[in-house]
Amino acid sequence: MLIGAKITGVGAGIPKSIVTNQDLEKLVDTSDEWIRTRTGIKTRHIVKENESNSKLAIEAAIDAIGYANINPNDIDLIIVATSTPDNLYPSTACLVQGAIGASHAAAFDLEAACTGIIYALSVGLEFIKTGTYQKILVIGADVHSRFLDWEDRNTCILFGDGAGAFVIEASPGDNQILSTYLRSDGGRGHLICIPNSNSSFPHEGSKPPEAVKRFLKMNGKAIYEFAINAIPEALKTACDKANIALGDIDYLIPHQANQRIIDSVASKLNLKKEQLISNVAEVGNTSAASIPLAIWQALQAGQIKPPAICALVGFGGGLTWGASIIKWTAIDSRNR
Ligand code: ACO
Repeated sequence: MLIGAKITGVGAGIPKSIVTNQDLEKLVDTSDEWIRTRTGIKTRHIVKENESNSKLAIEAAIDAIGYANINPNDIDLIIVATSTPDNLYPSTACLVQGAIGASHAAAFDLEAACTGIIYALSVGLEFIKTGTYQKILVIGADVHSRFLDWEDRNTCILFGDGAGAFVIEASPGDNQILSTYLRSDGGRGHLICIPNSNSSFPHEGSKPPEAVKRFLKMNGKAIYEFAINAIPEALKTACDKANIALGDIDYLIPHQANQRIIDSVASKLNLKKEQLISNVAEVGNTSAASIPLAIWQALQAGQIKPPAICALVGFGGGLTWGASIIKWTAIDSRNR
């Protein structure tokens, strides 16, 4: 029998500190009105000095483990999707493994920018389908605030920090991760990038002025165009692979980059407002964390009512994009 998989837990790690649009008005030449009308964002959560990517990832992991009611010792693999890890190594996944006491787990990071969580879900699913592993923790965690130029109004208004996690478990005879679809286009990678933050600079005689060289750079208009084309293509393909029609989707959970992008896709697909899951207004663009964070919040608010067919779709740096169709049945074990 083909081994299937299902999501049994979801968790969140969100910094407490909130930065409002009014706070940003004091830093750059912008306005609350401009930010809200162009992006839908009102607030974002930003890490304090003593917080980190791994701290948020650990919080999300513990929350998801509680939701799924599993023992950390039973976790076989931890995958963290992140493009803003604490270190080149140890990986964030290893830091999570140590902190939660997942004593039997393998652990590695994966980098596909904002699409990272879809990539991680897909990789985790393959390990389950082959029978290699039974319980996998998949986390998306990013602290873009550490790579933003807080004097660049084009980018600093968009991002927030956070982590979101899923527990996926083997589910023989009842596969609920119906499809995944992944794409990339490195030829357009320059449209959004964090250059020079790794080994780009030779050691000898070429120390870049750090504050200038390692900031996120983005061509906003080109990324917008890319997103509104990539999302419908990924959704259509993921639906085809899952053998369902677009009309069978109960909820769309897109990468939370910009409310205008989300609304434009929803209108192309004829989705109703209540089918759209969005928390971009409160948390901004949390990159690899955004999809599980949006699901987590929608479940908390009772907006997603299981069982439901959920379409997850991501896009971002690389360029990368992808989608996954999921049947959501998981209920928080702490409320059972
Ligand atoms: N406040 C006030 N004015 C601003 C701001 C700001 N924060 N930012 C830019 N402007 C100005 C520009 O300088 C420009 O002024 P000009 O006409 O005098 O040159 C004007 O506003 C219009 O700028 P546009 O770039 O045309 O604004 P646009 O409507 O395209 O909105 C935005 C910009 C919000 C960035 C939009 O292009 C967008 O959302 N793009 C997608 C970004 C995205 O999703 N990125 C992340 C995806 S991948 C990942 O998550 C890692």
